[in-house]
Amino acid sequence: MTVEDVKIIELPKFLDARGNLSFAENFKQIPFEIKRTYWIYDVPGGEGRGGHAYRENEEFIIALSGAFDVVVDDGKQKKTFTLNRSYYGLYVPKGLWREMENFSTNAFALEFGSSPYSGSDYIRDYQQFLNLKNNGKI
Ligand code: TYD
Repeated sequence: MTVEDVKIIELPKFLDARGNLSFAENFKQIPFEIKRTYWIYDVPGGEGRGGHAYRENEEFIIALSGAFDVVVDDGKQKKTFTLNRSYYGLYVPKGLWREMENFSTNAFALEFGSSPYSGSDYIRDYQQFLNLKNNGKI
């Protein structure tokens, strides 16, 4: 996988005087079956987190409110995606280093994963990530 495999996906939206509605379904807008959902909130403005790669887990990230950047890195190239609308999702395949940066105050990140939480799926050391990537192991 490379940063070229990371995609912004525009979600359906129903605009209405009563408020707007968007949605996402397995294997439609989200290119995998959701096995896990988690969310990140109350991040102090300007903070960042999430410096790691997954061996198997794929992700779909939505900024439900506020804004933040997702920086993806395949060991050769880096790309930054700014999420700031609740009708865009970012698909991040497995095997990429990814960080979340520049959270606005009151940002709310909703994340869907393709696998249940597993600590052993994480690669938290950047040098180890580069070694695995260069050896074609991830
Ligand atoms: P982590 O993914 O390490 O957050 P970040 O990389 O943004 O710092 O998650 C923080 C803690 O939350 C970690 O100790 C494990 C726990 N956690 C779960 O138990 N289940 C989950 O689905 C996630 C994402 C995290």
